Amino acid sequence: MKEISLKINGRNYKIAIEDKWTLLYVLRDVLNLTGTKFGCGTGDCGACKVLIDGVAKNSCTILAKNVENSNIITIEGLSNGEELHPVQKAFIEAGAIQCGFCTPGMVITSVALLSNNKQPTRKEILDALDNNICRCTGYIKIIEAIELASLKMKGE
Ligand code: FES
Ligand code: FES
Repeated sequence: MKEISLKINGRNYKIAIEDKWTLLYVLRDVLNLTGTKFGCGTGDCGACKVLIDGVAKNSCTILAKNVENSNIITIEGLSNGEELHPVQKAFIEAGAIQCGFCTPGMVITSVALLSNNKQPTRKEILDALDNNICRCTGYIKIIEAIELASLKMKGE
């Protein structure tokens, strides 16, 4: 075990890890930040996405020891106290959630997309969601939620 520091949701954590531990394992099993989901564990489903320096990445394929100097934001870090992030609100309003298992990863991907491109086209939304799998919704409502979030965030 060795001690590392991780900056997650604006808070600094000092934790003892093993070299082979993934960021996803540390988030869920060490820090109890269970909003980030474990789906495939192989980088294929996007359920484990977090923002690393503003980029949406699969935390199941990243070793915790390699993100020591990064700014990590998980789904728990998106809201402002009780106030949900506009993307989270849009997912609820658009009915883009069924079982909800994919939702944290979808929201993280959407936040990353909209922070770089405030008015994405449908094609750009589909391209951004390429690495996020949903087994329930058929994607249409998720796409509509991202379009709704885009409208909401336009005035910000
Ligand atoms: S759990 Fe990480 S991509 Fe599926
Ligand atoms: S809402 Fe169930 S997997 Fe997406």
